[in-house]
Order: sequence, then structure tokens, then C-alpha cells
Amino acid sequence: MNTFPSQTEQHAAVKRPAARASKIIVDSLSKTYTTKSGSFTALDQVSAHILENEFVTLVGPSGCGKSTMLRVLAGLEEASSGSASIAGRRITGPGADRGVVFQSYTLFPWLSVRDNIEFGLELKGTPKLQRLEVSDKYLELVGLTKFADAYPKQLSGGMKQRVAIARALANSPEMLLMDEPFAALDAQTRSDMQELLMNIQKHEHATILFITHDIDEAIFLSERLYVMKSRPGRIVREIEIPAAMRQNKELRDSEPFIQLKREIVDLLHA
Ligand SMILES: Nc1ncnc2c1ncn2[C@@H]1O[C@H](COP(=O)(O)OP(=O)(O)OP(=O)(O)O)[C@@H](O)[C@H]1O
Ligand SMILES: [Mg+2]
Repeated sequence: MNTFPSQTEQHAAVKRPAARASKIIVDSLSKTYTTKSGSFTALDQVSAHILENEFVTLVGPSGCGKSTMLRVLAGLEEASSGSASIAGRRITGPGADRGVVFQSYTLFPWLSVRDNIEFGLELKGTPKLQRLEVSDKYLELVGLTKFADAYPKQLSGGMKQRVAIARALANSPEMLLMDEPFAALDAQTRSDMQELLMNIQKHEHATILFITHDIDEAIFLSERLYVMKSRPGRIVREIEIPAAMRQNKELRDSEPFIQLKREIVDLLHA
């Protein structure tokens, strides 16, 4: 028997990128809420994964369980059955290994921009000098160095979300969980924030789970999408975004982009 790899196999071995490990594994996760009118299944046996440094987005109609899934992964809610794990550790509560950014601005109004960013580090007892180094780095990354001493009420919506992202990153989380972080922003700011997030992912090699209702945004940002449906909340399709289509706003009028968008919209409306 010939035990030498064929030429094609050798070629594939050289060309193939190293396989990425799963950062998040969601296994048959269900979440049932008990309400006055009976029990309600917000998530029904959802299974999904997110690889190291991957950008994955959940899209789906209102009420299909996107935020519920994100909250379970953030450890803010408990699953009714099934499990979720990060880097092999079962998620049982919140942890510094996950940074969360919500749609609503969640900065501490009484703290300056810098102190907001340093908040998690201060909780951990990180010395001031080291905190300053970290906040300097992330202030620069989100373009807010000049606003280090400003207070949240002095900032625009986009600036507040940049601080929220910097604050999440300052704790060196293993991944970011982002629930419609740009939904409240005007179109131009939103577009700028998408570029910023892409740069951050490149620089920080961040693993990101993102939620949006905006299909253009989902295609621009994501490597993979999970399309969800409601009643009960579940995943109905997994879609890989072709690398060439990702991060390229100029392709938005191209036929392949329009086709992909139509496929997703049809799934959402089916
Ligand atoms: N604490 C709760 N008690 C009862 N039902 C809840 C609770 N939280 C969420 N639900 C229900 O679970 C379902 C999923 O909610 P979820 O917030 O996850 O939806 P979503 O996909 O994030 O929607 P949207 O796009 O509007 O943000 C909804 O029908 C919601 O009413
Ligand atoms: Mg939601």
C-alpha cells in the first residue's frame, strides 16, 4: 500500500489553514419562561458553535430568542436544558472571559470615559499604572483619546458605544457578545462603527457573537450567520458569508450580494 500522500494531498496539507478550535459550543439549549398564561419556549434545542476569532451573527425576527441566547451565553440567564460552554468550560454565570455590549448605553454616568473603561480592571485590583496603559490603548483604538476626561452625558450615541466597546475589551475577554450595539445610531455613525469593529477584530483577534436586524450589516461583518425563527425560537439555517463579500461595502449593489440578501430575507419571511 502506498503510504505517501498524493501530490494533491501534499498540496492540500500545505494550503489548508490551521483548523480553529471552537470557542463557544451551544448544545441543545432550551429556555422556557413561565408566565401567567403558561409556559413559553423562547429557545428550543438550539445547537451552535463559534470558532476562535470568528465573527458570527444571529439574525431573526423580533422575539425569536436572539437576546435570550446571548444572555444565556453571558451567564445572565440560566438555560432550562442543554448547555453552553466557552473554551470547554460550562457557562454557569457571568465572567470576565466574556465582554457584553448592549443596544442601550450602559455606561456609568458618574464616571469619566477613562474610569468607565478602567472599571473592570479596578474591580480586579489592577494597579493604577497598568490601568492607565490599558485605557490609553483602548481610548486610542476607539478614537476617543481626547475625551478621556469627559462624562457620558457629554458624548454622542456613537461615542458612548465606542466607550462601551473599549470597556468590554479592556478586561481582555475571550469573546465579545454584542446585542444590537449599533441599532440606535444614525446611518453614517453606524457605518463608521462597523468599520471600527472590523478593525478591532483584526487587531485584537476577537471572537464575536453579534446580533442585528440589519441584513447588510450582518453580511458586511460576519463570517457566518445563524438565521433564527420564532415560536419556538430556533435556528433554521447556517450561512457562510463568502470572504470576498465580507467587509466590502462596494459590493452592495452586486448581483451575488443582492441574491444572498434575498435568500436571507426570504428565510426570515418564510
Ligand atoms: N423574562 C422573560 N419572561 C417571559 N418571557 C420572556 C422573557 N424574556 C424574553 N421572553 C420572551 O422570549 C421571547 C424571546 O425574547 P428575546 O428578547 O430573546 O427576543 P429577540 O429575538 O432578542 O427579539 P428582538 O429582536 O425584539 O430583540 C420573546 O417572545 C419574549 O417575549
Ligand atoms: Mg433582542
